[in-house]
Amino acid sequence: MNLLRGKVVIVTGASDGIGAKLAATLRERGAKVCLSARNEGRLAAAAGPDDLVIPGDLTDDAVRRAIISKTAGHWGTIDVLINNAGRGSYLAPSEEPVEEARALFDLNFFAPLALAQLATPHLRRSRGSLVNVSSIAGQISLPWLPVYSASKFALAAITTAQRAELRREGVHVMGVFPGYVDTDFQRHASGTAPAVIAGNRRFAVTAVECAEAIVTGIEHRRNTVVTPRAGWLLVWANRLFPGVVEARLERV
Ligand SMILES: NC(=O)c1ccc[n+]([C@@H]2O[C@H](COP(=O)([O-])OP(=O)(O)OC[C@H]3O[C@@H](n4cnc5c(N)ncnc54)[C@H](OP(=O)(O)O)[C@@H]3O)[C@@H](O)[C@H]2O)c1
Repeated sequence: MNLLRGKVVIVTGASDGIGAKLAATLRERGAKVCLSARNEGRLAAAAGPDDLVIPGDLTDDAVRRAIISKTAGHWGTIDVLINNAGRGSYLAPSEEPVEEARALFDLNFFAPLALAQLATPHLRRSRGSLVNVSSIAGQISLPWLPVYSASKFALAAITTAQRAELRREGVHVMGVFPGYVDTDFQRHASGTAPAVIAGNRRFAVTAVECAEAIVTGIEHRRNTVVTPRAGWLLVWANRLFPGVVEARLERV
C-alpha cells in the first residue's frame, strides 16, 4: 500500500542534498510535491514536471506565507510539511559573531517554527504530518558545531512540544536526527570542519538513504527517526555516560 500517493507535501531546502532526494523519493511514492529554497536553477533541476516550485529565502516571512498559501491554493490541502532547510557553522562559541548566530537560529529554528504555525490549520484539517529535520547535533552538543548544535537542540525541543499540542488533534509530529550525511553541508557552512570529520565521509550515509528513512518514518507516523540507526548508540551513550562522551568529543 502506498500511503503517500496523492498526498500534498512541502519540502524546504529542496534544491540540494537531503531535500532534493526527499522530493525525488516522495515523487516516486506518488506524492504531490512543493519544493522551496533560494537557488532557482537548482530547484528547477530537482523538480519534476508536476511539482510546484516556490523559490525564496525562508528567513523572509513573505516567502513563508507564499509557500503555505500557494500550495494550499494549488492543491486545496497540505498533508505534510517537511522543515528540512538548514545551515551549519563550525565557528567556536568565542568567535561566532552574535549576529551570525542569530541568523543561524533564524533559518534553523525560527523559520521552521513560523512555517509550522502557518501550516498547522491545514495539517489539523488533513490530520497530516509535521516533520522537523534536526540533527544528531540536536541530541548531543557537538563541540565543532556549537551554535548549530544549539539551534538543532532548540528545534528538537519545540518538536516534542508541538507533538504534545497537536497529537490529540490527529496531527503527526516527527523529529529527524541524521548523523553524517554525504551532502555539501560542510561546504555551505560557516567556518571549516575539523580535518578528522571532513576526512571521514566513508562513515556517512547517502542523502538517498536519509530521504528514504524520513519518508518511511512519515508513512509509519513515527515520533523520531535517527539515521543511520547506529546513531542511537551515541544518543544512549550520551544519556548514560555524558562525561565520557563529552571528554571523547573534546578530543576531535
Ligand atoms: N549533511 C549532514 O551531515 C546533516 C546531518 C544532520 C542534519 N542535517 C540537516 O539536514 C538538513 C539538510 O541538510 P543537507 O545536508 O541537505 O544540506 P545542504 O546540501 O547544504 O542543503 C541545504 C538546503 O537548505 C537550503 N537553504 C539554505 N539556506 C536557505 C535559506 N535561507 N532559505 C531557503 N533555503 C535555504 C539550500 O538551498 P539554497 O541554497 O538554494 O537556498 C539547500 O537546499 C539541514 O537542516 C541540516 O542541518 C544534515
